[in-house]
Amino acid sequence: MSWRFLTSGESHGRGLLVIVDGLPSGLTITRDHLTDLLARRRRGFGRGSRMALEGDELTLWGGVRGGVTTGGPVGISVGNSEWEKWSPVMDPWTLTAEGEEMKTLSAPRPGHADLAGGIKFDHKDMRNVLERASARTTAPRTLAGALAARVLEELGVTVRSAVESIGGVFASLPETEEEWRHAVASDMGIAREEDASALKERITSAAAEGNSLGGTFVLSVTGLPAGIGTFTEWDGRLDGKLAQGILSVPGIKGVEFGLGFKSADHPGRLVHDGISVEEGRWTRKTNRCGGIEGGMTTGGDVLIRAAMKPIPTMKQGLPSYDTRVGKASPAHSERSDVCAVPAACVVAEAMTAWIVGSAVAEQFGSDRMKDLMERFRAYSREAERWNIHD
Ligand SMILES: Cc1cc2nc3c(=O)[nH]c(=O)nc-3n(C[C@H](O)[C@H](O)[C@H](O)COP(=O)(O)O)c2cc1C
Repeated sequence: MSWRFLTSGESHGRGLLVIVDGLPSGLTITRDHLTDLLARRRRGFGRGSRMALEGDELTLWGGVRGGVTTGGPVGISVGNSEWEKWSPVMDPWTLTAEGEEMKTLSAPRPGHADLAGGIKFDHKDMRNVLERASARTTAPRTLAGALAARVLEELGVTVRSAVESIGGVFASLPETEEEWRHAVASDMGIAREEDASALKERITSAAAEGNSLGGTFVLSVTGLPAGIGTFTEWDGRLDGKLAQGILSVPGIKGVEFGLGFKSADHPGRLVHDGISVEEGRWTRKTNRCGGIEGGMTTGGDVLIRAAMKPIPTMKQGLPSYDTRVGKASPAHSERSDVCAVPAACVVAEAMTAWIVGSAVAEQFGSDRMKDLMERFRAYSREAERWNIHD
């Protein structure tokens, strides 16, 4: 069965909900694992005050008994710990008054979904758009990605991310296992702690100017055999699916695999990765393609870079037009992050795990975890040495 998930909920609502369908039975899930990942999504210097205010309260609705998946749809909600305080004015059944957190949005913010979404659904109060387009709604899909990552972990597949730059200031990329671990654990998502101060200074000075920043990050997937994904139809290509998953994270504007855009500047001999056989295994000495050829994995690490635009909400709103008073006006402003790159890469990591996990499940079947492991391992063993004559 192929995997799917749907989410529901809004930024300042009672909570957010995800239903994940298709996961195998027999997978161990712990609350701590999911809570830790959601906590990583809230990380980073330059986040808004909301990150400190709101806890993520998880409730399991189904699909897991005794900490193990049953094969049924897994339902999890993420409660909003602030909601009770707002509830008299925030109850969606009775919502009439304007609460502090629910001011009418009549001056749309450039860079956000506000205006196009207002036009599309005829919402005169564009808060109806903001509430669902908000990055807070990435929490439930981070959970879906966490479940996928658990499946992948059992298969020996690891998905990780590291921040590369913020507002044009660069950090070193991870080169060793220890640096990858640091990137995953660190508040700034970087490989080496000594780079943190330059990035934080960049964020502090942007905040002082009332400005915001974007940046770049990298993602890596290790442990996949050759041949995951397919070349046979356009919508089965793994690179296409990954690009969609990562670009679906709010604010992500570019994705590249391996050399990516730079590959367009170099001749073929400096771009493609020669094939050899060493110690009876298929080998590449380089991985400029980023681990994907013909829409399928090559057996090397999948290497992706993504770019995030600066946060669109700013203290001094950008030029806009207020529909309530019918004249030019600065865009609506509210509590906001100055930079969310270290958090965005956690969401992108989750989407990457989801896409890779779905592709693996599609290829090997995913009713039972133990069968999936057996088939995946047998295939991986064969793929390494496939058709090599000693
Ligand atoms: C983790 C995360 C946190 C974000 N925090 C904010 C924020 O506090 N304020 C804001 O205006 N945009 C924030 N954004 C970015 C916007 O959601 C994004 O720029 C906006 O939805 C429009 O992007 P799009 O054109 O790619 O949809 C955040 C994005 C992510 C991934």
